[in-house]
Amino acid sequence: MSVIPRIVVFAGSTRSGAYSGKTAGAAVKMLAILGGEVTQLSLLDYPLPLMNEDLERDQGIPANVMRLAKIIDIHDGILIATPEYNASIPPLLKNTLDWLSRNLKDSSGRPLKPFDGKVAALCSSSTGAFGGMRALNHLRPVCMGIGLEVITPQCSVSNAKTAFDDNGELVNERTRATMERTCKTLLEHAKLLSRRI
Ligand SMILES: Cc1cc2nc3c(=O)[nH]c(=O)nc-3n(C[C@H](O)[C@H](O)[C@H](O)COP(=O)(O)O)c2cc1C
Repeated sequence: MSVIPRIVVFAGSTRSGAYSGKTAGAAVKMLAILGGEVTQLSLLDYPLPLMNEDLERDQGIPANVMRLAKIIDIHDGILIATPEYNASIPPLLKNTLDWLSRNLKDSSGRPLKPFDGKVAALCSSSTGAFGGMRALNHLRPVCMGIGLEVITPQCSVSNAKTAFDDNGELVNERTRATMERTCKTLLEHAKLLSRRI
């Protein structure tokens, strides 16, 4: 059976006009062109408290964690576009991934492991020349630690202030080609690993 891979995309920033949001947007367009069924999320819609095991024990898993986990669970793959904060990933993204990595259960009490065996692609952006590449070096092991199969191709958008045109398209041909390769590989792997086959 041929599966149209379902990919969920989100950025690690909720800043208005965030470059990682634009990078996520460029990935969404590319994934759709390449035949994926894409859902774009904003973490703005899923505010979470800072991970704290006392809070988790006393109040349980926040409803927004479960909402996010259920959406991710029905997709075959995930693409994350991260900013770079001090050579690493921003607290918003780490906190979100940390919550999602916890012992979650669906309404029937069955374990809900939204990342288990799912394929992931990573993108970054920054106003600098390296495009947030150092954040990807930290995001990759975090993603592997929570059970994601992270593909090798990745896309860093450098000089982000001038990297997008008015339609949100990547203007630099090389960056666009890297985004295309990243998205193509993600879709191929998502098809292979889909739990719907
Ligand atoms: C706390 C903090 C640390 C930052 N550290 C870096 C950094 O290490 N490298 C870099 O290229 N940009 C760094 N920046 C600049 C961000 O890349 C820039 O603000 C970017 O626009 C944030 O991503 P966003 O546009 O997706 O919100 C930092 C910004 C903040 C707020």
